[in-house]
Amino acid sequence: MKRIAVLTSGGDSPGMNAAIRAVVRTSIFNDKECIGVMRGYEGLIDGEYVSLNRASVGGILHRGGTILKTARSERFKTEEGRGTAIAKMREAGIEGLVVVGGDGSFHGAKLLHEMGMPTIGIPGTIDNDVAGTDETIGFDTAVNTALEAVMRLRDTASSHDRLFIVEVMGRNAGFLALEVAVAAGAEYVVVPELPLSIGNLCQKLRASHEIRKSHTLIILAEGVMTANEMKSKLQDTGGYDARVTVLGYIQRGGSPTSFDTILASRMGAYATESLLIGKSGVMVGNVNHRMTLSDLERSWTEQKFLSPELLGLMEKLN
Ligand code: F6P
Repeated sequence: MKRIAVLTSGGDSPGMNAAIRAVVRTSIFNDKECIGVMRGYEGLIDGEYVSLNRASVGGILHRGGTILKTARSERFKTEEGRGTAIAKMREAGIEGLVVVGGDGSFHGAKLLHEMGMPTIGIPGTIDNDVAGTDETIGFDTAVNTALEAVMRLRDTASSHDRLFIVEVMGRNAGFLALEVAVAAGAEYVVVPELPLSIGNLCQKLRASHEIRKSHTLIILAEGVMTANEMKSKLQDTGGYDARVTVLGYIQRGGSPTSFDTILASRMGAYATESLLIGKSGVMVGNVNHRMTLSDLERSWTEQKFLSPELLGLMEKLN
């Protein structure tokens, strides 16, 4: 293998640039060339390549977003789109590919592997919903970004003795919501993985009000319902007048934390070296602090569970 390529796909996440830098510099360290593909699988179909060298990935380590841009590609879901992508890669002398993205992006990576193009995945998403790794790139930064916002809301909730519902991202998973709730000392967390009864929640709200708590924070994962829907339900069932904040895309931006920068650097280097020694159809993971490889398919066939320990803390401490 002389020339490999790297692309970022799906929703961006802080640390993707650090992963790109690591892939490029590890390639150069091993006397290989690394090409960047713009706009994920869309750019792969259009042959939209940029040459990358040591200097072109300088100064990006702490930049949020992705210098290669990203997209969700409908065309790549078709056989024709994938065929064109492979033909363009072969024409450009690309012999292997690193895909940075979530489980949706890994479906495409697996298909490329099956079509004979050596491909390795690096999990990058703020949702942390990828089995086969303890953390995905960007999750830690998103937790910290959301936490900062929630702590500000706590101040005003406390001054006014108010009930706040804060909606965080996470798609169909509650990892982000749970970590933010524990770190912020929120009173309640509502996640898609656990059943929710508004009646029970209202009972709990009443009970905590009776003990001592005047202000209350509920962290709601977007995969359950919208914060406005929850506000109406709490109003209808318990007569509560909750204030609502939707954190939204702010959670995807900003400089990566040191944890994400280091994780992305480790994963980028490990993915590149694994590709160069002939591994394909696998994703890199960080399991018990060690770099691992596991089948790409695991990312969508296996469910990743919320930490029972953190769920227990929500019960015990708040
Ligand atoms: O997967 C990352 C994520 O930010 C999810 O948390 C969110 O549900 C989704 O992407 C939003 O997707 P889009 O950028 O397509 O609006």
